[in-house]
Parts: sequence; structure tokens; C-alpha cells
Amino acid sequence: MKRKGILLAGGTGSRLWPITLGTSKQLLPIYDKPMVYYPLSVLMLAGIREIAIITTPDDQPQFQRLLGDGGQWGVSFTWVIQERPEGLAQAYLLTRDFLDGAPSAMVLGDNIFFGHGLPEVLTRADAQASGGTVFGYHVADPERYGVAAFDADGRVTMIVEKPKVPPSSFAITGLYFLDGRAPDLAAKVRPSERGELEIVDLLEAYRAEGSLQVERMGRGFAWLDTGTPGSLLDAGNFVRTLQDRQGMQVGSPDEIAFRQGWIDRDGLAARTRVFGKSSYGTQLASVLRE
Ligand code: DAU
Repeated sequence: MKRKGILLAGGTGSRLWPITLGTSKQLLPIYDKPMVYYPLSVLMLAGIREIAIITTPDDQPQFQRLLGDGGQWGVSFTWVIQERPEGLAQAYLLTRDFLDGAPSAMVLGDNIFFGHGLPEVLTRADAQASGGTVFGYHVADPERYGVAAFDADGRVTMIVEKPKVPPSSFAITGLYFLDGRAPDLAAKVRPSERGELEIVDLLEAYRAEGSLQVERMGRGFAWLDTGTPGSLLDAGNFVRTLQDRQGMQVGSPDEIAFRQGWIDRDGLAARTRVFGKSSYGTQLASVLRE
């Protein structure tokens, strides 16, 4: 069965208040694009064309205004509401009907990935028919994330959420490739002390049966944090620096749709006209001229 995508873009964004009192965190700008374009691009790079987008009830109309039905990119969006932020694993309960037994790739709407060879990494994860694949990334502050522990042979022995004493420096990023059993396994997860269905508990179910792969993303990758005002600004500057230097876009769903062959030259030209003289539009025009 073809893998389907889940873009989880709910939550309160409370760590960024007051910025996110009036709008969703995942709609904030990362330099020249809304944050949600970047994780969406990752799903599209993985070749995924059927995507469920989960938002809060209040924010859904804004996301729909921005993203439409996906037809402009040759993909289709299914809109799903999460009433309350009751945990990342809840996403699999909310998308059970949408997934209909298919394997999935879930990405958090505030996770930004960049790196040479990303499409290959995603293709490898997609090829894994059963079990799960997640990505470990070396960070300076693992206590802020889900963290993996490894044994002497490099096998993962445990994944813990925000440990006070991290068992390694490898954070588990917000990108989860799971097989078709994810909704059933998520249904067995019990709320944690903070009242959430924790993603690490769902991953633990896979790990315990020996079917969880933790792929390490090495030095050549950037996994950017957007959790604080400072890291949000840094992420924007990172994208700006790369794009200005290379004259190429990071995280453009329009460009990816074109390169994947999901929209043709006329389709991209139409999109370029939509964005007119904005820097995003100018960059699409240069893709067209290539
Ligand atoms: O970014 C990677 C990390 O994401 C992982 O390393 C952790 O294991 C995972 O728990 C998560 O940690 P965070 O502390 O970043 O989780 P947070 O509650 O901030 O939620 C992450 C995103 O998901 C955020 O954009 C809001 C959204 N969200 C969150 C919850 C709890 C939802 O849409 N619904 C929810 O119920």
C-alpha cells in the first residue's frame, strides 16, 4: 500500500506567546515562507501525495486559505481537527479512517529539515514495509527532546521524552515513518503524567518488538529548532543565507511538485503568476527559466 502523509500542525504554541496568541505557530514566517511549507516539502520529497493536515478548530480556516486542497501541487489534502493538544500519538487515532491501513509518514508542522541526500534518506525510510523508522540527530541540548539510548552495538534500547539526564546526545526528530498498525498501537498508549499520548510511548511499542530503525542524520544535515523566539529567528536567517548564496529555494512545495512531475511547466507558470513580484514568485520564475 502507498504511504500516506500526516502533517501535525495543532498545539497552542504557548512557548512563543504572545506571538502565537493571534495565529498558529506553524503559520509564522521562516524567512520568506510560512513555517508549514518546510515540513510539507519533506513529505512531498518523500513522494507522498495524500496528506492529512491536522490543526486546531480555530486555525483550520487559515491553513485552508494558505494551502487549499493541494491540487495546485498535484497532491490532495484531507483536513482533520484536533480539539485539544492531547499528544502527538493522538494524530494516529484522528487519522485512522484517512490512513485506512496504509503506512504513514508523520511530520510535525514546526520541524525544518535541510540536507544533501535528504530525498535518498526519505526513500530508504519509505521502502521499509513494516515496522518504523525515526531519525536521530546530534544536538547540544537533548533534554529538550525525545532522546534515544543505544547499546554497544548501536541498537536502540530506549526512547525517553525530555529526560533530565539524557542517555545520549541523539534527539529523535519530528518525522516518523510507521507501518499500517500505528493507529492500533496508538490506541494502546495511555496518557502520560502531563496528560498527553506521548509519541515516545508509541515508538516504544515498535522498539520492544525489534522493528524500530533509528537512522542517524549526520553532520551534513540541518534539523532546525523553532521553539523559542531566538531559534525562530536563527532558522529564518539560515534559510536566507542558503537561498541567497545558492540562488535556490529551500522548502518550496511549488518547485518540488514541478521536479516530481506532479505539475507541468504550464502549472508552474500559473503558480509563478500567482506570486507575482514577491521574492518567492521571482525564484519560481528562475526555476521556470532553467
Ligand atoms: O521536535 C521534535 C520533538 O517533538 C521530539 O523530539 C519529541 O519527542 C516530541 O515529543 C516533540 O517534542 P516537543 O516538546 O517539541 O512537543 P510539542 O508539544 O512542542 O509539540 C510539537 C509540535 O506538535 C508543535 O508544533 C505542536 C504540535 N502538537 C503538539 C501536541 C502535543 C499538536 O499539533 N498536537 C498536540 O497534541
